[in-house]
This record gives sequence, C-alpha cells and structure tokens, in this order.
Amino acid sequence: MATTRQWHLASRPVGEPTHDTFELVTVERPEPADGEVLVKTLYQSVDPYMRGRMRNAESYAEPWDVGEPMQAGVVGEVVDSKYDGLEEGDIVTGTLLWAEHAVADGDELRQVNPDHGPISTALGVLGMPGVTAYFGLLDVAEPNPGETVVISAGAGAVGSVVGQLARLNGARVIGTAGSDEKAAWLTDDLGFDAAINYKTTDDLAAAIAEACPDGIDVYFDNVGGPITDAVWPLLNVRSRVAVCGQISMYNATETPTGPRKLAQLIQSRARVEGFLVSDYEHRWGEALDQLSTFIREDELQYRETVTEGFENAPDAFMGLFEGENIGKQLVKVDADD
Ligand SMILES: NC(=O)c1ccc[n+]([C@@H]2O[C@H](COP(=O)([O-])OP(=O)(O)OC[C@H]3O[C@@H](n4cnc5c(N)ncnc54)[C@H](OP(=O)(O)O)[C@@H]3O)[C@@H](O)[C@H]2O)c1
Repeated sequence: MATTRQWHLASRPVGEPTHDTFELVTVERPEPADGEVLVKTLYQSVDPYMRGRMRNAESYAEPWDVGEPMQAGVVGEVVDSKYDGLEEGDIVTGTLLWAEHAVADGDELRQVNPDHGPISTALGVLGMPGVTAYFGLLDVAEPNPGETVVISAGAGAVGSVVGQLARLNGARVIGTAGSDEKAAWLTDDLGFDAAINYKTTDDLAAAIAEACPDGIDVYFDNVGGPITDAVWPLLNVRSRVAVCGQISMYNATETPTGPRKLAQLIQSRARVEGFLVSDYEHRWGEALDQLSTFIREDELQYRETVTEGFENAPDAFMGLFEGENIGKQLVKVDADD
C-alpha cells in the first residue's frame, strides 16, 4: 500500500504553538477521482495566518479541526491526473495540505510558469505574499512619489516586497526588522532609505522619528503592538495606514489593552484600512505580471528561507514568530515517489 505523511492539528495552542500542537501521521496515499489530480509536494508554505486557523474562533478563514490535516499553500508536481487540463509532470500551485501528497480538484490549481522564476517563488514573491504586497501598497495605501512609507516586518515575505515597490514608486522607505542582518539587507541590497532593528533600539519612537524627519505618509502594518504605537504619533495629515497583519498579537491569550491612540487620528485625519488579499483574486494575474516583470528587469529582489524536510514543517512555522526567516519561509519536501 502506498502511503504518505500529513501533519495534523493535534491540539489547539494556548499562546505560542509548541511541538504538541502538531502530529505527524502516516496515511494511505489518496487516489484522484474524476476531475482531480494527485500532487506530490515539492515546496510547502508556512504563513502567519495559519495561527488564526488553529484557534476555534470566528475569522475570515475557517478554523481547522483538531485531529485533521492542516491546509497550506503548496507547489508540487502532478503525479497522477484524472483532470483534462493537467498531466503527469506538470508543476502546479494551490491550497492543498500539510502533506507529502494530496489530491486536489484540477479546477482549483494553477499551473506554475517556470519562465516567471524558480517554482518556489509561486509561494512567495510570485504568490500570495507578493500579491498582498502589491495590492496592499498600491490599491490600499496609495503612496505618492516623495512620500515617506514605513513598513513593519520589513524583511519578511510581504514587507520586503512592499518596500521595494514603494521605492519604485518614488517614496522614501523605512523598515523595521528584528535583527541587524535583516536591517542591513533592507538598506544595502533592497534600497530602503533606513531600517531600524526594533529589538536593539532603546527608544523606538525616537529612532522612527529620526528616520522620518517629514513625518509618515503611509504605514504598512504587518505587526501591530509597540511598533505601531511608535508610528501613530508621526502620521501626517491625510496619511494612510494599510493594516495587513498584526503578528505581534497572534499568540496573545487576551486582547491587549493599553493607551488608546485613536485621538491621534483626529489630528492626522489618517485613513486606517484593513484588507485581505483574497479580495483581489480576480486581479491576481495583473499583480504576477507586474511583479515578474520587475524581477526580470532586476528591479525587485527576493529572498527565501528554506527549511529542508517535511518533518521540520512545524519548526519552520513556529520560527515565523521568532523572526527566524528572512524573506519568504518555505519547507522543501522530498517525498518518495
Ligand atoms: N491581509 C492579508 O491578506 C495578508 C496576507 C498575507 C500576510 N498577511 C500578514 O502580513 C504579515 C506578514 O506576513 P508574511 O507572510 O510576510 O510573514 P513574514 O513577515 O515573512 O514573517 C513574519 C515576521 O514577523 C515578525 N514578527 C514575528 N513576531 C513578531 C512580534 N511579536 N513583533 C514584531 N515582529 C514580529 C518577524 O520578523 P522580525 O525579525 O522583524 O521580528 C517574522 O519574520 C503577517 O501579519 C500576516 O498575517 C496578511
């Protein structure tokens, strides 16, 4: 009997996920029904939003069931097809499972175009995080040339793309990040005007103010918490805040209370807008065309942190909350055929 391995949600974490959150399970390898294909995972994505799916709470994404396999963005190879549009050997991407093999409806997979770049990029700069950066910045935050754009988690999958797109748009770009190595990557390689290591800066508010002498016109927020508290007093009149994520709170067991900063929006008349990349499903191709053109023309750089081995997927996921990744965090899976 052919088997495959899956990671199941073993228990709902309270606070930070631990190894007890996950269970590695060997199951019979599924066979595709009519209209389906069997996909062998080559790269699996781990993403911060997955923490929300481990919680049994109302959200934009359904909670996962305890004892069931978890879902993930995957790039994989079709190894068996009962779907007219795909054949063995095709490289596809879609939402599958934390699994070495999974079946999927052929209609729900997208073929990866290797001309756009290495196939792993379909989970990063040329996938959901890249598209998030593209529309979150250009459609929600709408930066103008000469404006100052601040990005929290600037060295992450989304943040690193946001900063480069803002620079290409003629903005002055400042990122926050959790290590000197990340900060150096932003300024030395990606062309950010300044980067602040929030973990080693004594006075974050002063450091951001110093890096933004003309105030802040756009804040692309991936993090929330103290970094956002430090940014808000510097928001200019008619500035825009794109609320992309709030990772600093994903493991919180209670809603944090603290100084209320909403009054500062009266003075700045800032617009604060949350958004979801899934709202841009119908414009996905537009973002990918533009992002892949920028990559081809050497205008856009990307980085991937690749964890080797399916058995290490939980560590890769938990590392997101420790800032272990630079750029997009992936898991490289090398299952038996
Ligand atoms: N709205 C949407 O549709 C959408 C779509 C995709 C992603 N998102 C959100 O966008 C954000 C970035 O996602 P991503 O996939 O690009 O992840 P990422 O930035 O590649 O990885 C997460 C990063 O967050 C930082 N971080 C973790 N815990 C933190 C804390 N307590 N305080 C400050 N920084 C912390 C870490 O970097 P440091 O070293 O800098 O700490 C870590 O590397 C997440 O909040 C995610 O939920 C939203």
